[in-house]
Amino acid sequence: MSKDWNQAYANNKTPWDKGAASPALEEWLGKEKNVFRGKGIVLGCGLGHDVRLLAKSAKEGNKGNAAEGILEVTGIDFSQIAIEKAEALRSSALESYLCTDFFEYAEQPDQSNSYDWAFEHTFFCAIPNELRNNYVDCLVQLLKPKAFFLAIFFIQDPKDLAASASSDGPPFKIKREAIDAYFEEHFEIITAYTPKQHYKSRPYGSEYICLMQLM
Ligand SMILES: C[S@@+](CC[C@H](N)C(=O)[O-])C[C@H]1O[C@@H](n2cnc3c(N)ncnc32)[C@H](O)[C@@H]1O
Repeated sequence: MSKDWNQAYANNKTPWDKGAASPALEEWLGKEKNVFRGKGIVLGCGLGHDVRLLAKSAKEGNKGNAAEGILEVTGIDFSQIAIEKAEALRSSALESYLCTDFFEYAEQPDQSNSYDWAFEHTFFCAIPNELRNNYVDCLVQLLKPKAFFLAIFFIQDPKDLAASASSDGPPFKIKREAIDAYFEEHFEIITAYTPKQHYKSRPYGSEYICLMQLM
């Protein structure tokens, strides 16, 4: 049975939500420039902590922050409750939210080639394995040529044999080595590493950050 994400938000059963933006994204913003420029989308944004961090860094751009070129950031999620909570936490005019299914949204003709960049954090692992290729196609559809995609993937520990079937989820974790196979047809992988900063409850090595550029 597929997960009822909206119910999880209604019941406050949301262990993935740490009440703060991704430390790995903070680490990224502390050192990388020229990625987040123009109009961006955050996939499966939940309560929007990462959207807010991105919008905040754009506002602080003239103080030398990495995200100075952001014009707007749209967080999408199909949970209405998550989006309502995200809206209530909104802290900047650059930040906006849409309650929509990612796969349906990407099919809308007026959304085609409309984003300069995309970000995701533990959204790929929320998608059943059989939809992963579809996920990549939809992402490609939303992005402009040469757009950047920054992803923080939830990684399967190679020693965790119980998880290796990885059909019990979400989260549907992915092996680090398996990421390229999904994305390499459309994206050039520019950087990929294990971030040093992570939530306390997610050990070092459970996340993997990848910057890709649409070819
Ligand atoms: C593991 S949570 C991560 C949320 C957020 N990125 C975070 O780190 O707090 C996955 C999110 O994806 C959303 N989601 C799952 N499938 C979706 C879909 N097809 N379209 C839009 N959102 C979806 C869920 O509602 C949930 O908020």
